[in-house]
Amino acid sequence: MLNILIPWASASILPPAATDLAKKLDQLSYFLIGISLLAACLVIAGFVYFSIRFRRKSEKDKTPHITHNYLLEFLWSFIPFLIFMFVFAWGWFLYTRIREMPNKNANALEVHVYGQKWNWDFVYKNGRKTTTLYVPKARVVKLIMTSRDVIHSFYVPAFRIKQDVLPGVYTALSFTASELGKFYVFCTEFCGSGHSGMQARIHVMDKDKWEAWLMADPYKGMTLSEIGKKVFQGRCTACHNTTTSTKIGPGLAGIFNSKRVLNNGKVISADENYIRESILNPSAKIVQGFTNQMTPFAGLLKEEELTGLIEYIKSLKQE
Ligand code: CUA
Repeated sequence: MLNILIPWASASILPPAATDLAKKLDQLSYFLIGISLLAACLVIAGFVYFSIRFRRKSEKDKTPHITHNYLLEFLWSFIPFLIFMFVFAWGWFLYTRIREMPNKNANALEVHVYGQKWNWDFVYKNGRKTTTLYVPKARVVKLIMTSRDVIHSFYVPAFRIKQDVLPGVYTALSFTASELGKFYVFCTEFCGSGHSGMQARIHVMDKDKWEAWLMADPYKGMTLSEIGKKVFQGRCTACHNTTTSTKIGPGLAGIFNSKRVLNNGKVISADENYIRESILNPSAKIVQGFTNQMTPFAGLLKEEELTGLIEYIKSLKQE
């Protein structure tokens, strides 16, 4: 609708749509924008026309006494009513389709999603864990979601879907990607100081590539430090810099083997054991000037990932 009224609109107003349902939702959005524009134009045009047509021309001009006009009043109530009901029915139809979960025969790909301060974890049925969601194109995906701490909200603008994730409860989302590419995931529930950094990507791949990806060893041929870097980029960058500058947590460059002053006044050396403990159980030793904000990673990392992280942090030298 708006594409016809304003030809450039579809290219600039909404983010790219990567599911068929998203494209259908966009049609509704454009219809709403178009009809609102039309209504605004009618009201403004009427106002300008009446101001000129019925302006007071001389001292003798008198306003005629008109009380009402049944037909006119009926039409200006009933026509908008029909439009509103039409929009309601359209929206209801699309909403039920968004909220519809795949049935048993749909061969849906189920992925578990965990929100935590401040990143997203994706766990596949074969045990593969990632911080980017990889899905095949044109297959129904069902996300079974929960939170490890506070309320977060899983939002994918390109798919036009959003759902809160809550601790202790599963919520779900379903989509079928129709475009290849990488799309953003944002958290849209304020969940603390790292909220705006709580992002992930959804990578939509061809079916064959995706199947190969699912079976592959994610760390094949990588050094421990490279494994650590990969884990770091997926899980730690919302709160930690690889320089000396503080983000939510301390910057990590040069931290290895440095002296750390704890909030109880004790001074310790940041050796491998301290770094390991600070990842798995961050509240054990809090450095002066910081608060206990980090989610414990105990049980969330494989041993090689943990060792990799420690090696990577050791490799971060102060400039
Ligand atoms: Cu998680 Cu905002």
